[in-house]
Amino acid sequence: MTSTIAGTIDGKVVWSDDMSVGCSALDDDHKILIQALNDFIEALENDEGVFVTDGIFMVLLDYTNFHFAREEAIMKACGYAGFEDHVKTHGELKEQLMDARTRYMRNPSPDLEDEIRDFLLSWLQSHILVRDMDYKGRVAASGQDLDSILANI
Ligand SMILES: [Fe+2]
Ligand SMILES: [Fe+2]
Repeated sequence: MTSTIAGTIDGKVVWSDDMSVGCSALDDDHKILIQALNDFIEALENDEGVFVTDGIFMVLLDYTNFHFAREEAIMKACGYAGFEDHVKTHGELKEQLMDARTRYMRNPSPDLEDEIRDFLLSWLQSHILVRDMDYKGRVAASGQDLDSILANI
């Protein structure tokens, strides 16, 4: 068993309580994204082929869009000061993901697979553990009913 970056075991991301952003719905989103990422990595390792891999990629893309919308609604309702910057980061990440997917479909080479796997690993970890963690205190202190915010998106 090897562990290179926080929360990574044998090249896969493993959820732990210190990844919690203090909102169970958003934590569940992050767990689903982590699962999709691990499925993607496993499909590459097993040489499942471009169509299986791309199907997982699309799940990752769709769920990322869904999650970002939920997270943005909560950050806004809770008056998080870094809202604008965070939304901008989400936009950049969505573009990077779509660009990676387009490049992959055009040329699913082993080098590109490695590049995309490394990008997804570092993106998910740095975003959840650093960027998302920054709104945790504000969301907790806001006293907002997070479930009703999400129910009204
Ligand atoms: Fe997030
Ligand atoms: Fe985020």
